[in-house]
Parts: sequence; C-alpha cells; structure tokens
Amino acid sequence: MQNIDWASLGFSYMDTHCHIRYVWRDGVWSEGELVKEPYLKMHIAASCLHYGQEAFEGLKAFRCKDGKVRIFRPHANGERLIGSARRTCMAPVPVDMFVDAVKRAVKANEDFMPPYGTGGSMYIRPLLLGTGPQIGVAPANEYTFLVMVMPVGPYYKGGLKPVRALVVDEYDRAAPHGTGDIKIGGNYAASLYAHEEAKRAGYPVELYLDAKTRTFIEEFATSNFIGITKDGTYVTPDSHSVLPSVTNDTLKQIAADLGMKVEVRPVPFDEVKEFAEVAACGTAVVVTPICEITRGDTVITTGDPDGCGPVLQKLYDTVQGIQYGRLPDTHGWCVEV
Ligand code: COI
Repeated sequence: MQNIDWASLGFSYMDTHCHIRYVWRDGVWSEGELVKEPYLKMHIAASCLHYGQEAFEGLKAFRCKDGKVRIFRPHANGERLIGSARRTCMAPVPVDMFVDAVKRAVKANEDFMPPYGTGGSMYIRPLLLGTGPQIGVAPANEYTFLVMVMPVGPYYKGGLKPVRALVVDEYDRAAPHGTGDIKIGGNYAASLYAHEEAKRAGYPVELYLDAKTRTFIEEFATSNFIGITKDGTYVTPDSHSVLPSVTNDTLKQIAADLGMKVEVRPVPFDEVKEFAEVAACGTAVVVTPICEITRGDTVITTGDPDGCGPVLQKLYDTVQGIQYGRLPDTHGWCVEV
C-alpha cells in the first residue's frame, strides 16, 4: 500500500507503477504490455499531434466494503470508445480488449487504490491515438491504445458541496452536427478558453446552450446537466451534441428504480428557474449540485449553497452505495478485478 494521504486526494494527476499499452499495425492489435515510463515516444508527424485524431474515456474502480476491487460499467465505456473511434476514423478497440486492458492496468497498480471508507477511488483514463505519420489530412495507418490509472478524490473541493455555474454565451463547445457526442480531446480544447474566463470570474463550472439558437441547455464543459422538477421528475437534455454520459445513464436507471419519472427531452434554458434541484453529473464529478446559474446580469438560484437537495442526495447515495458495494448491484454494473 502506498503512503498517501487518501482523505486529502483531489482530482490531480499522479504517477503510478505503470500503464498498459497496445499498438495497432496492419489491422491487428498487439497483446498489450505494462510500461513503467509515463512517456510515449512517437513520430513527429503522428496524426494525433497534427489533426487531433484521438479519443479518450473516463471510468473508475472502487475498493468495496467486502475488500474486493470492482470497476464500474467498463463495457459501457468500451462501447462509447468504439463510437468515438468510428467518428474519427480510428482503429476500434474491441470491448473485450478494452475491459481486459482496464483490469490489467488496475491490477498492476492495486496498491494505489484508495482504501474503502476514505471516499477515494481509482480513476481510469483510456486513450486512443493516431500514432502513424500523416501529413496529408487522412486517417493514420498506426494506432496506440493505452490505459493509465491514478487515485483520486472529489473533482471539486468539498465533494458534494454545491458550486456556481456560468452560462457561456460567447463561445460554443460543439456544433449541431459536430463532435459533441463523442469523447475527443478537441471538444475539451474548444472549452478551455471559456473555462479559464469563467474561473477568473469565480465560477468553477460553465454551462453550454445549443449552438444554433442559444435557447436549449446542452451540458456543462466536463459533465451532463440534470434538473429535478418540483414534482420529483428527473430531466436531462436530449441533444445530438451532448456526450452520452455513463453516469447520467446510470442515474436515469436509478431514478426509475426509485419510482421517479425520467424525461430525456429538449430543456429550454427558461425552465432552469422552475427546477427544485440542479446538478452536473459525470464519472469525475459524480453528482455535483449546482446552487446558482448566472447568464449575463441574471442570477438564478437553483439550490441551497450550503447543502445538497434531498433528491440529488438520494441519487448520489445510491450510485455510490452500488459502486462501493454497500447496496446490491441489481443491474450487474460492477466488474470484479
Ligand atoms: C470524466 O468524467 O471522466 C471526464 O472525462 C471528464 C473530465 C475530467 C474531462
């Protein structure tokens, strides 16, 4: 076991023992090897460097109450990476290979796994890159797939503590028929400038509206949007440019299991003031309550700045309960390492 102050972990990069790496050449993936050095030697004309031919994933593993290590929904992330690979013309990583890679990377770094009860987890970051040299704009002829892992705590300081969000009206994250629905670095690069501006203005989170009309809610820069209506309905936007979040999918199922109505539909920004509770959700942020949303001169209160609303608290407790093995995994989401 590493000598780490587990309870003080935030969401920061940390070197571990190794990552796992595979190379695709002539239509075949290699067997995968554990690599100690956290560096990649690549061709200066690699397509990922010039034309952004790359995609990534984010998922977590947990030390459960019974002492076992379980990965949360790796097959869902594997499927999503296939969609990202297809849209960016990269060699797809078969789901079985993806899940095996994740298990091997977690296993090889098991002593970096935060112990049960510390609130930490192991963040898993798979990365698919076009590494073949390509100077004309075209897909590469070689791909590298790797999985790195690191112990993490909450993405925003304070865990379930509510945060304030700022609506981005000057910039777009994704075009209507662009790449917002796949997990590629370009979407995050496109959001960095607005993110830094929002941070300087005192907002940890930015909210994007639809690029065409700026009337409908899309998502936060790093996570999906959820609103809970006064009658307890779970509402989340339906849009082609929103990333299909595995956490949102999980929470929708949990909400339905709890007997809540679930609506996936266009959500006008004007509806924000009607919601009883609002949150950002994703692997990294889990469920983060949003207590206030600012758009221009208008400030809309969407929750208590000091605490989480009851419905979000229930959803958070349930998803974390399943992930840490305190509640039954009735949907078969957790995969033992
Ligand atoms: C995740 O939630 O896993 C993400 O990828 C979001 C962010 C840290 C980029």
